[in-house]
Amino acid sequence: MTTTLITGANKGLGHETARQLIAAGHTVYVSARDAERGRRAAEQLGARFVLLDVTDDATVEAAAKTIAADGGLDVLINNAGTASRADAHSEPTAATVTADQMRDTFETNAFGVVRVTHAFLPLLQRSAAPVVVNVVGGLASLTNLSAPESPTHFYPGVAYPASKTAVNMLTVQYAKAFPDMRINSVEPGFIKTDLNDNTGTQSVEEGAEVIVRMAQIGPDGPTGGYFDANGPLPW
Ligand SMILES: NC(=O)c1ccc[n+]([C@@H]2O[C@H](COP(=O)([O-])OP(=O)(O)OC[C@H]3O[C@@H](n4cnc5c(N)ncnc54)[C@H](OP(=O)(O)O)[C@@H]3O)[C@@H](O)[C@H]2O)c1
Repeated sequence: MTTTLITGANKGLGHETARQLIAAGHTVYVSARDAERGRRAAEQLGARFVLLDVTDDATVEAAAKTIAADGGLDVLINNAGTASRADAHSEPTAATVTADQMRDTFETNAFGVVRVTHAFLPLLQRSAAPVVVNVVGGLASLTNLSAPESPTHFYPGVAYPASKTAVNMLTVQYAKAFPDMRINSVEPGFIKTDLNDNTGTQSVEEGAEVIVRMAQIGPDGPTGGYFDANGPLPW
């Protein structure tokens, strides 16, 4: 039996990833920072619920204790994320972004990944086939954001892509440090969720596919890589 924890799984890609992994036979912990919304999602999905705010040490440590007491963890999906908005549709650009806005975004998207991974490493190390999936997206790619021919080149925001590029570095460094684990970054696509005010062009079903696939890779699968639905991506 494979036990999987998904952060930020009360809605969006995390929720759909939970649905698909439960269908594939995983025991899934849906985690959320809001107990009521998280519990409701878990009940609807047939998942377990655990309270977990990725910016809060106490909830992360309590969640790790609960899951350890229940039997441990095989797969961690670092999915929770935020995009700080200057207005309803865009995030601050290089002309306006402040250190506080950067810190806010990094607190969830990058430090949150470290906080959660650090707390669950001892459990993952006890698993026979430990896996970590970091949901970063295409805006993490330095190669694509700096290439004029890339569809993501136009993106003017700073904090969100910088925080996700930082997670790509976490993927590389953790994967080297823990060669017995499969640790990868994934890009789900441009998915219609609250994160982009539902302006995405693909469904959560399509977006979750690569997350679910990388959550199910066996010990012979890749590690320290960055993938979308079609294969490896440039960093
Ligand atoms: N949608 C896209 O096109 C796209 C593309 C590339 C990558 N991604 C990444 O995919 C992941 C999921 O995003 P989504 O598109 O599904 O957006 P979403 O529907 O807005 O879901 C984001 C989830 O993260 C949770 N969250 C935010 N801050 C949190 C915190 N401090 N602690 C715990 N949970 C927290 C949210 O909880 P609340 O409901 O409490 O806010 C929500 O459950 C994110 O990492 C995002 O960057 C999305």
